Amino acid sequence: MLDKKLEIVSSLSDQARTNLDLLKSVEESWQPTDFLPDLTKESWREDLQKLREGAAALPDALLVILVGTMVTEEALPSYQTSFNRLPGVNDPTGASAEPWAQWSRGWTAEENRHGDLLNRYLYTTGRVDMRAVEVTIQHLIRNGFDPLHDNDPYNGLVYTSLQERATKVSHQKVGQLAKKAGESVLGQICATIAGDEARHEEGYKRFMARIFEADPSGAVVAFQTMLERNIVMPANLMYDGQNPTLFSAFSLTAQKNGVYTFEDYLLIIDHFIDYWKVKDLKGLTGEAAEAQDKICEMPRQLGRRVKFMSARANAKNVTPFLWIHGRPV
Ligand SMILES: [Fe+2]
Ligand SMILES: [Fe+2]
Repeated sequence: MLDKKLEIVSSLSDQARTNLDLLKSVEESWQPTDFLPDLTKESWREDLQKLREGAAALPDALLVILVGTMVTEEALPSYQTSFNRLPGVNDPTGASAEPWAQWSRGWTAEENRHGDLLNRYLYTTGRVDMRAVEVTIQHLIRNGFDPLHDNDPYNGLVYTSLQERATKVSHQKVGQLAKKAGESVLGQICATIAGDEARHEEGYKRFMARIFEADPSGAVVAFQTMLERNIVMPANLMYDGQNPTLFSAFSLTAQKNGVYTFEDYLLIIDHFIDYWKVKDLKGLTGEAAEAQDKICEMPRQLGRRVKFMSARANAKNVTPFLWIHGRPV
């Protein structure tokens, strides 16, 4: 089974080469410094002061959500490791010239700026307990990340397509909340990061679309498999040294503030059902036909539960977060 998948994935290296155009050259890329006060400038004190005044407008809930998304970005080593375990689309040597290897490293190099920028922003604003945040990052990287793709390239590409879209949505929403609170610098930062995630999503989902053409049965089973496993969130093993349910507390805060909600998850599934034309797949039999039916049924099934799940989440109690000096959110 894996041999067939490996053969198909390898035969699509033209797509991998095309995908490289979605990455920006280093010369045309933004860098974290472009958004933050330049501390070598004479006006650094005033620039810093201005940034801190803007960030004073951020409410606690938004700070918690921002720390959660930053910590998620900072666990980048786990994501590259996960991607490089996927046979056929990985980087076999660590510096290979193969198109997928170039993508894996180019993608990582772009992603690396996300954690850097959010980390420096939070540090500079003085709004959070940076040490508690750093402890969380170290724990998270030590704990690791298992997206449950079983090192299967189809599963891995489905997972990454959905995940890039999910991060795009959450960065966009954090940015909108920041703007609403009157903090336009953070609004701009999050919108810019979301723009990167959008290009990455495009790469993964186009590649998966080619797999849907070349091996519809294998592709649809992979999509169903990953949906059934509920798309594990990348930072679900986060820990601050005190709260064993930190990740649920963080996702609950996000859900309550409309950042990454059950509705968002549903919309993401809908998007991929349409994009990969799952409903139009013809002539599937056995396991694949069953997977197709289950996927098409899922939005309706989930849709029925969304209201109930949202109401239950909104009724949950507040949690103190070490990230914001133990204040409850
Ligand atoms: Fe990112
Ligand atoms: Fe990403």
